[in-house]
Amino acid sequence: MCGISAYYGKENGVPIILQGLQRLEYRGYDSAGLALLKNNEIEIIKTKGKITELKALAEGRSANIVMGHTRWATHGEPNYINAHPHSSADNSIAIVHNGIIENHAELRKELQEKYNYKFTSQTDSEVIAQLIQFFYKGDFEEAFRKMLTKIEGAFGIVALHKDHKQMLCARKGSPLVLGIKEGEYFIASDPTPFLEYTKEVIYLNEKQMAVIDDTGYKVKDFNGFNLTTELETVPYGIEAIQKGGFEHYMLKEIFEQPETILNCFRGKIRHIDSISIKKENIKRIIFVCCGTSFYAALVGKYIIEKTVNLPVSVEYASEFRYRQPMLFPTDLVIAVSQSGETADTLEAIRLSKSLGCNVAGIVNVTGSSIAKECGQGIYLHAGPEIGVASTKAFSSQIIAFILLSMYFSQNPYFRKEVIEDLEELPAKVKAFLQIQNIQSIAEKYKHAKFFMYMGRDINYPVAREGALKLKEISYIPAEGYAAGEMKHGPIALIDENTPSVFIVTKDSVYEKVISNMEEVKCRKGKIICICDEITEEIERLTNDIILVPKVRWELTPIINVLPLQLLAYYIAKANGREIDQPRNLAKAVTVE
Ligand code: F6R
Repeated sequence: MCGISAYYGKENGVPIILQGLQRLEYRGYDSAGLALLKNNEIEIIKTKGKITELKALAEGRSANIVMGHTRWATHGEPNYINAHPHSSADNSIAIVHNGIIENHAELRKELQEKYNYKFTSQTDSEVIAQLIQFFYKGDFEEAFRKMLTKIEGAFGIVALHKDHKQMLCARKGSPLVLGIKEGEYFIASDPTPFLEYTKEVIYLNEKQMAVIDDTGYKVKDFNGFNLTTELETVPYGIEAIQKGGFEHYMLKEIFEQPETILNCFRGKIRHIDSISIKKENIKRIIFVCCGTSFYAALVGKYIIEKTVNLPVSVEYASEFRYRQPMLFPTDLVIAVSQSGETADTLEAIRLSKSLGCNVAGIVNVTGSSIAKECGQGIYLHAGPEIGVASTKAFSSQIIAFILLSMYFSQNPYFRKEVIEDLEELPAKVKAFLQIQNIQSIAEKYKHAKFFMYMGRDINYPVAREGALKLKEISYIPAEGYAAGEMKHGPIALIDENTPSVFIVTKDSVYEKVISNMEEVKCRKGKIICICDEITEEIERLTNDIILVPKVRWELTPIINVLPLQLLAYYIAKANGREIDQPRNLAKAVTVE
């Protein structure tokens, strides 16, 4: 994970980079640091803390060439020594790195044993700076390229040398984007750090590097050959990455859902056949994904199998890629990913491609590694999701599955009905978000030690997503279960102190869910119920009711996830948690 932000230009880059790093904190916030190049010296400022502490340490500093890093620790605990930037032993070179250098231990050993190099940190990254020093004979770029031939693994790297007015960067496996403005250049993990300065960008491709100096920028391959590149324009503005009056990004993103849902289907529902996914001879769809995207994909399985009659399997990317999956050229393997950078999902797609499958992506971040690797698919257009807990991406992913089912379905009636209901959905979501009683329910249960979440059919994955949201931002243990499975084990967890959140939509499994609620009730469990109709049974069985608007079956997960997102948010808030940056988590999981 980790966030990188760097500036080369004529202004003081320190405040630019500090502000940029703050926007990248969603990628990791274990420690942070800066390197300033000025008068043939590199000054490094680091802290074990977050960017606010780094800001205080860097007060009054100025330089036109600056790079910064916010860390999500992989090798070596989060402390001052392991914070980036890392320097070569002679302090002539500084680097920041996102990714993992897989052969760092052997490289370190060789440098230490054969050449007596001294290492100070436990990180895999330090070896990058040391190797550049090892190869340096007066040509910084040449030494940098030689270093690239030695390291294995995933990396986005930016490097400075005290005697060269140059900024070098390289990418393999971890994203880097260049921001281009007249006489000013930016390098970052995504465009958010420099959006107010430029929206003109170049996304570095795999195994590309860039050299920036006073003459401009050059993009090259790792052998040093110049490449031609195209400037792209970031499709959103600065307002998309500000809190807009909300206390947290997560709350803002929950409330953005009326628009993000609309953005996902607008422009596509009336031109459904223009979706760019090859569908000829497809006999099976496999979704590969992680976390919230996995639960969204489980919803996708219910929708597509029922409406299109095509078998669908949903796989954790981290399991799929290591278990020799049986794949055929008639399989369509779809990566589902908000960030488009999740390492396991990316590798699952590469594996599927190498075995001859048709691959596609359902991705939010345009220009991301997964989007590029797939080359076809559906973009969510949900805008940047900054809160670490995914919210608006989940609802948009479900819209994408509905679009996919319309695309594969040749049934004009189905298509027509779905279009009508989709068009009414944003207003229903908005209406629900304006009037709800969830904050008081959260207050009531904020001290519970454990929560159950249950649903059936298409709302079973939604129950799992609700439990995940609660766990990740409030740290309260929670299980999301298929309600019918409860009596096969988890019912043992129910007692008078256990709140169970039931999703009970008036659909084909309504009576079954009611029976499951009876089973909880007679064990004195507390029931919070999310329903689209308050029936006599619901009133009798439940302690708290959250009424959601009625929508067609395929859309119920979108409506039902809203109260679960808000419940998690308000419980975490009532417990004083760091909602946008929960402990141990980072937004884009670019390590395996
Ligand atoms: C949960 C969450 C994570 C991500 C998972 C996959 O709130 O954010 O579980 O869903 O890391 O990330 P993407 O969708 O970016 O591949």
